[in-house]
Amino acid sequence: MTQALPKVIIHGGAGSSHGHRERLVALREDLYSIVKQVYGKAEAGASARDCVVLGCQLMEDSPHFNAGYGSVLQSDGQVRMSAGLMDGEAQRFSGIINVSRVRHPIDLAAYLQPFPDRVLSDLGAVELAREMAIAPFDPITDLRLKEWMQERANNFQSPMAGVVAEAVEVPATSESRRGTIGVVVLDMEGRLAVGTSTGGKGLERLGRVSDSATPAGNYATGAAAVSCTGIGEDILDECLAARIVVRVTDGMDIAAAFKKSFAEATANGRDFGAIALSHQGDIAWGKTSEVLIAAYHTGEAIGDTLELNSGTLTGVV
Ligand code: GLY
Repeated sequence: MTQALPKVIIHGGAGSSHGHRERLVALREDLYSIVKQVYGKAEAGASARDCVVLGCQLMEDSPHFNAGYGSVLQSDGQVRMSAGLMDGEAQRFSGIINVSRVRHPIDLAAYLQPFPDRVLSDLGAVELAREMAIAPFDPITDLRLKEWMQERANNFQSPMAGVVAEAVEVPATSESRRGTIGVVVLDMEGRLAVGTSTGGKGLERLGRVSDSATPAGNYATGAAAVSCTGIGEDILDECLAARIVVRVTDGMDIAAAFKKSFAEATANGRDFGAIALSHQGDIAWGKTSEVLIAAYHTGEAIGDTLELNSGTLTGVV
């Protein structure tokens, strides 16, 4: 079945503040450039999965986001990244957990799609990067290093790092932002796919596992696909992506599924956001956090969620 228009939605984190106007403008420019490139690929007939991989690579390349280049540092001053990919048509999840020194963690998740062992961590991730002949890459930016040095000087008082990297250098507050990147695509043949990639919370203890390479943070069927951002533990506790996708797959309208899931999340005091697409082409988003950094392309218009009111909100375009 051929569908007239593909749909794309991407996110670059959620949290409590953008900071100043200059950063908002830079984030919007970055998001729009990426959403247009992903849409162009989808419009040219690429599969949802290939479009998702491209979108994740582009976001991992941007120092504005906490994934790939620009990832936050963990408590020991190292970057460890995680990524999940789910093909809604094939109903296959693959992921990589706590990988270091690669440019595009999503590539490792994508490579694992056809294999029987589809989620690898730590040592397995290192071996996989070697098997794929991936050139070593240092994802640490000067700004992230500086933030970590400041935290060290403060004896690591902050519970986590700021996790949307700055387009320009401004003071980061420790609680101000939580991030990850995510890409959801509905292709011209009606196939859905979703990818999520993260540098984690920042300052976390060694071995901590993010939600992004689990079905709590990244999940799809033929009916819907969801990518989450925010506090990984909150996302895991709600099993948010799978919760919303299962509701839609069982026949609930995506707007109702978001409303119900985010009402539950609010009652449970969670801090996160999510983006989604339905098989019908409905673009959805929701947040309990103050801001959700997301942009979408409907085929007719580009929009974003950068300047929504604070508090819990859901929406469908
Ligand atoms: N959602 C990203 C993380 O908590 O690691």
